Order: sequence, then C-alpha cells, then structure tokens
Amino acid sequence: MADCPFTTTDSGAPAPSDEHSLTAGPDGPILLHDHYLLEQMANFNRERIPERQPHAKGSGAFGTFEVTGDVSEFTRAAFLQPGATTEMAARFSTVAGERGSPDTWRDPRGFSLKFYTSEGNWDMVGNNTPIFFIKDPMKFQHFIRSQKRRADNGLRDHDMQWDFWTLSPESAHQVTYLMGDRGIPRSYRQMNGYSSHTYSWYDADGNLSWVKYHFHSDQGVEGYTQDEADEMAGKDSDVHRRDLFDAIADGEHPSWTLKVQLMPYEDAKTYRISPFDLTKVWPHADYPLIDVGRFTLHTNPTDFHTQIEQLAFEPNNMVPGTGLSPDKMLLARGFSYADAHRARLGVNYKQIPVNAPQCPVHSYSKDGAMRIVPVTDPVYAPNSKGGPAADPSLIGDDNRWSYGVSDDMVRTAYVEREDDDDWSQARALVRDVFDDAQRDEFVDNVAGHLADGVTGPVLERAFEYWRNVDQEIGDRIARAVS
Ligand code: HEM
Repeated sequence: MADCPFTTTDSGAPAPSDEHSLTAGPDGPILLHDHYLLEQMANFNRERIPERQPHAKGSGAFGTFEVTGDVSEFTRAAFLQPGATTEMAARFSTVAGERGSPDTWRDPRGFSLKFYTSEGNWDMVGNNTPIFFIKDPMKFQHFIRSQKRRADNGLRDHDMQWDFWTLSPESAHQVTYLMGDRGIPRSYRQMNGYSSHTYSWYDADGNLSWVKYHFHSDQGVEGYTQDEADEMAGKDSDVHRRDLFDAIADGEHPSWTLKVQLMPYEDAKTYRISPFDLTKVWPHADYPLIDVGRFTLHTNPTDFHTQIEQLAFEPNNMVPGTGLSPDKMLLARGFSYADAHRARLGVNYKQIPVNAPQCPVHSYSKDGAMRIVPVTDPVYAPNSKGGPAADPSLIGDDNRWSYGVSDDMVRTAYVEREDDDDWSQARALVRDVFDDAQRDEFVDNVAGHLADGVTGPVLERAFEYWRNVDQEIGDRIARAVS
C-alpha cells in the first residue's frame, strides 16, 4: 500500500476515496457535486468504441523486421534494402465474428502488418489465404453481409452464405481453401500470411515489377479439424489470443519469413492468367519465391485498447519504391480503410501513438476532433514562409502504371485470358494439392456445413458448384448430405 501512488481524477487532482461516494450523512442521498463519482460513471459509459465492421475479433503484438535477402534491384524502398531493420506491429483476426466471438470459427484469418519505416508507415493488410472470394469491390459489402447475421433473427445462416457463394462462381477457389484442412488454423502462430493482391515495386530509375508477398510461418502450418475447433469454441473461445500472448510472454517469439513472387512489368500484358485477378494465384513454377527477410514478434501489448483495438491498418499506406496495382479490389481498399478509421476512431486516428509514423511528419492536415499534435504556421501551401514543400521528383511515382487509363469507362469483368476460368485453380487444389486424407476431410467439412441449414435450390446449386470444381468431389458431397 505504502508504495502505490495516490489515485487522482483524470485532471490530476487527488481523489478522496475509491470506495465511498459523497452523501449527505451516512444514510443520506448522493450529492451532485461528487464530480469524481460523476467522472467515473461518465467515462465508463463511453469505454466501448465501435468494433471493426469485418475482422472485429483479433490479437496483436509488436516486433522487428529484418531484411536478409537482396531485392534492391527491384525496389528502392529503404526498409527493403539489404540488412535494414524496422520496428513493426501485427494484428491477426477472424473476419465474420464479432469482438467476442470464438477464435476457432471456420473463416479466413486476417494478417495485418504495419512497418514504421524511415520513409513513412508501410502497411500490409493481408489474409492467411493467397486468394479471395470475389474480384470486384462492388460485391464486397454484400459478401460480408452474407457471412454475418440475418436481419430477422440476428443469426448467422449457412443458407445465406452458400446463396452468395454459388451465385458468385469466382469464389470457388477461396471456398475450397476455406473448407480444406487450412480453413481453421491451430493458432495464429501456425498460419501463413499473404498479400493475396498483386502490388508493385519500382527501383531508383522507375522500372516497375509486379509483386505478391508471402509470409511463411517459421512455426509451420497446422490446422484444427472441425470437431477440434467446435470443442475449442466451447472450452476456450480466446484460444488463439491466449496462445499468441503466452508464447511471447514465455520468450517463444514467433517469426515469419517474407518471400515474394516478382513478375516483370511486360509479362502482365500477356500472362495466361489476369495478374490482377484476386481469385487466382500465380503458379510458383512461373514465378518462383524469392527470399526477402523475416519478422519476429517479441513484445506483447500492455494496453489492448490503445495498442490493438485502435491499431488502424490501410493498404494505401505505401512508401517510395512500393505501390498498388490495377487490381480493382485493392484500389477500392485504398479508400475504404482510411474511411473506416475516420468513422470508428476519428479523423485524427493517425495521431494515436500506435498509428503514428516514427519518422518526421510535415503534413498540412489541420484541426478536427481529438487533434493533439500542434499545428504551426504557415497553414497553407504554396507559401513563402518556410513551410514544407512537396518533392516534385516523386510525381512520376503516381504514374508508374498507366494500365488502361486511357480506355472507355465500362462496368465489366477483367478481360478473360486463356486460364481465367473460375474452376480450374480450385480443381487443381482439390485434385493435385490435397492428398486422400485432406480430400476426405474437405468433403466432410463441406457436407457438414451444407447440412446445417442449406436447403432447396441453394443446396442444389451448391452440388452443381462442386461438380464444376470436380465431378467426383461434387458427387461425394451430394451423397454425404443426402
Ligand atoms: C478489415 C474493407 C478486402 C483483409 C477491413 C475493414 C474494412 C475492410 C472496412 C475494417 C477496417 C477497420 O475498421 O479497421 C474491405 C474492402 C475490401 C476488402 C472494401 C474489398 C474491396 C480485403 C481483402 C483482404 C482484407 C482482399 C485480404 C487480402 C482485411 C484485414 C482486416 C480488414 C486483415 C483487419 C485489419 C486489422 O487487423 O485491423 N476490411 N476489405 N480485406 N480487411 Fe478488408
């Protein structure tokens, strides 16, 4: 007791009691001028901020990234140069569940990284799967609603999920992945991370390459079976959060090796698969993995709210030498995340310490709710008063890929290429990548999911969907459900 500090109010004045409110006599009414009590109640009532719309349940930690390879001929990003080390933050999440939902529901896992580089923050907001369910952002909001809860009874609904998936055949590759043995990771430490999207890199002369990022778990990749996951959801719904926190606290620091696939700029024009289609992978035989570096998570949060709940990732956080690509989904995400943060955390969310760059910031943004970094004159540009001036040498960076920019305005899918159909990569996963045991587990998982509330035409369409992937697998699924 002797060593602990005195309680104060939020304005720093000593608090007279942590136990008793101010009353008129021991049995009398509470007095309105107990401003300490009022402050306690008022702050409590405002403790919860909105959860993220998708990816509400997650966990995070802090670490260091070190470049061990040499990709300097492809990118001039300072944090990707040989030997560079950069402090970073990571958050792993489920997608459809709410902030308190079980960690072991079948769902992709988010894999978000923020690197506090010397040239500004660089964010990689990926998943544990190399592909995604859709390829046009117009469908994203609808897709997420189909995975969350119904309007009438507030329940999740497999019928709704399969209705969307079977009417969106481009989802087949990702749904195959999701229903397979990697669909429920055993822990956040035992899953890979992928950018999924194609991004761009450019060197000091502006030569551009297309790049996909792969983060391979050094702990290996392990999944739960459906039965194990169901049991765990009842036993310890926070099992993945606990595992990550305990491992780091015990000094077992998880790490991931960063590799990239690089496609020369010109290849994109003629490659047999549309290189910006998020539902497709680039076969490694065409574009092999190249080692870049490794990140290790070594530090747990001490305040989950300020460090993880308020941690705000955005795919548009790029640094010189790195960029987006003509992937329509990625470009939409370039708007969506910053907008979500402004709605959830407020316009000055980048001043929350965990989001603040660790390099000097000289922006002209001004005022707004919760601004804490002082603004100084001049507050406009151009000016002759010594205020910051933009670097015109970067203008070319905006224009590295002018892909299709001079074309007509249309609402249509990507131009279809030789190997762009919706089924063949899913088929290859089922036939060539899964072994017999994995195929059996996959059939059980799909059949179990369908048997839980999917009926009528949606069920018939689901059988057809799987027969399009692979006739035999489709027949097996239909037999298992009937
Ligand atoms: C979270 C939008 C596609 C990975 C979110 C959030 C929004 C969003 C609004 C909540 C952000 C917040 O409140 O902090 C979109 C849109 C997409 C899209 C509009 C497509 C057009 C994707 C894809 C991936 C992905 C393709 C993975 C490759 C994530 C992750 C989070 C997230 C990991 C959680 C970030 C965190 O840990 O805080 N998304 N998303 N999203 N999204 Fe997406």
